Amino acid sequence: MPLQDEIFPVPDWTPPSGLCVLRAKTSLASELPEIDRLASSAPFRRMQVPGGGMMSVETTSAGAVGWCSDRQGYRYTTHDPLTGRVWPSIPKSWTAFARTMAEQAGFDGFEPDSCLINRYAPGAKMGAHQDADEQDFTQPIVSVSLGLAGTFVWLGPTRVGHGHPIDVRDGDVVVFGGPARHGYHRVKTVRADPSGPAWRINLTFRRAQ
Ligand code: SIN
Ligand code: FE2
Repeated sequence: MPLQDEIFPVPDWTPPSGLCVLRAKTSLASELPEIDRLASSAPFRRMQVPGGGMMSVETTSAGAVGWCSDRQGYRYTTHDPLTGRVWPSIPKSWTAFARTMAEQAGFDGFEPDSCLINRYAPGAKMGAHQDADEQDFTQPIVSVSLGLAGTFVWLGPTRVGHGHPIDVRDGDVVVFGGPARHGYHRVKTVRADPSGPAWRINLTFRRAQ
């Protein structure tokens, strides 16, 4: 088993300032029709990272701009490179939901212009990174977990160390902004659940431009 998938004990933890975990705020069942509709115009696809490897998650986007990765690097684009069309709009109900979640975490006036949709089949994971390709770091990130349970690991100011694992289940929302906006984080390998849904889906709302 790879080192980063070790289960290790975590003492009770007070999240750092700007990081907030909100539990059971929505569900995959309620959001799946919109996800299916968005994916019918901007299909899920695996993106290449600048180093040449393929991400294990499948990705698509909604909003004025969508996050993309390829050999040239990470960036936001107005058009989906797969279809050549503009990205579909973020559903109004999603924008309102993300704004409410940001408010509950103490960040008023959140206006996302991009929603990254990550789909993790069992076995998929996301390595340590910062959300750093946006132009506006005053607005928080609102990260919505749907479907299969997963472990979101908060690493903080540096990518090294075990960090703090946060179990995220269907409908849980992690908001990070202010002093936590630049925190490193990763997602452990998602495990199958024979009685659960096929995927873990994460919606990441951002102000990119
Ligand atoms: C991400 O950081 O882009 C994804 C986070 C998650 O899947 O919970
Ligand atoms: Fe991220």
